[in-house]
Amino acid sequence: MTKKIPPVIELRGLTKRYGVGDAEHNALDEIDLTIEKGEFITIMGPSGCGKTTLLNILGLLDRSDDGEYLLDGKSVETLSNTRHARIRSQQIGIVFQSFNLINRLNVIENVALPLTYKGMFRTKRLIMASEILKSFHLSEREYYMPWQLSGGQMQRVAIARALVNNPSIILADEPTGNLDSKSSHIVMEELSDLHKRGNTIVMVTHNPNLTTYASRVIQMLDGKVASDTKVPPAKKETNKKKPLNIESSTPPVKDTPKKSAKNRKKKQAKK
Ligand SMILES: Nc1ncnc2c1ncn2[C@@H]1O[C@H](COP(=O)(O)OP(=O)(O)O)[C@@H](O)[C@H]1O
Ligand SMILES: [Mg+2]
Repeated sequence: MTKKIPPVIELRGLTKRYGVGDAEHNALDEIDLTIEKGEFITIMGPSGCGKTTLLNILGLLDRSDDGEYLLDGKSVETLSNTRHARIRSQQIGIVFQSFNLINRLNVIENVALPLTYKGMFRTKRLIMASEILKSFHLSEREYYMPWQLSGGQMQRVAIARALVNNPSIILADEPTGNLDSKSSHIVMEELSDLHKRGNTIVMVTHNPNLTTYASRVIQMLDGKVASDTKVPPAKKETNKKKPLNIESSTPPVKDTPKKSAKNRKKKQAKK
């Protein structure tokens, strides 16, 4: 008999409190959540509902006050911070809204950074970073400094860095929050590609249009899961074909009337 694979993430009654006395409130209020391998989850909800708190706990950057968090079937609650850091460096890739690249390191060094914790030699680290940058079509930017990149490029470098360890989970907190619509689109295509390759993705977003990429949409409210909807694959396909409408609602203009007139003239001239 084959052993059943446990869910990548399982939360039971997860609670996080902030403040004391009268000011105490639950940023996360007994959250139950199961995430299977290969899901692409978007988490939505009003500001302050607990999205970042949840993502930080999932990423082992923060701890809950109550409840249980099982990662790959194993409880992580009682593990030390050092152990958490090691698990993070091996299994979890995190992408932030503000990219969080290190300004004094160039692109390839930024991407290679997570491998330092694995005790890998520098040459090997740089080879691995170079490989992943190649898959992101960023090879030409390897020796650029972060400030020489556009926002979209910075976020793609940050995603490459999150992936260099080959993590089983990618967590992203509003990864397109600081990007224009074109860069958002490129970053979302990148995440969508990772999902197709079997990665598990949990992404917080404010933008309802980005849920078209997801296999499951979770709405949060006041530290609780308010709704949890699986997106049927068929519906996803039709949604995907729609043009992505990220910030502006102006549809892409393919051919201006002026140009068409010009082209017509050209064609006529050819005749
Ligand atoms: N470090 C903190 N100290 C005190 N309260 C906090 C802290 N971080 C978050 N909170 C509170 O927890 C709640 C959830 O915050 P957050 O997870 O950042 O929400 P979201 O990401 O959905 O906007 C908010 O009420 C916020 O004020
Ligand atoms: Mg937040």
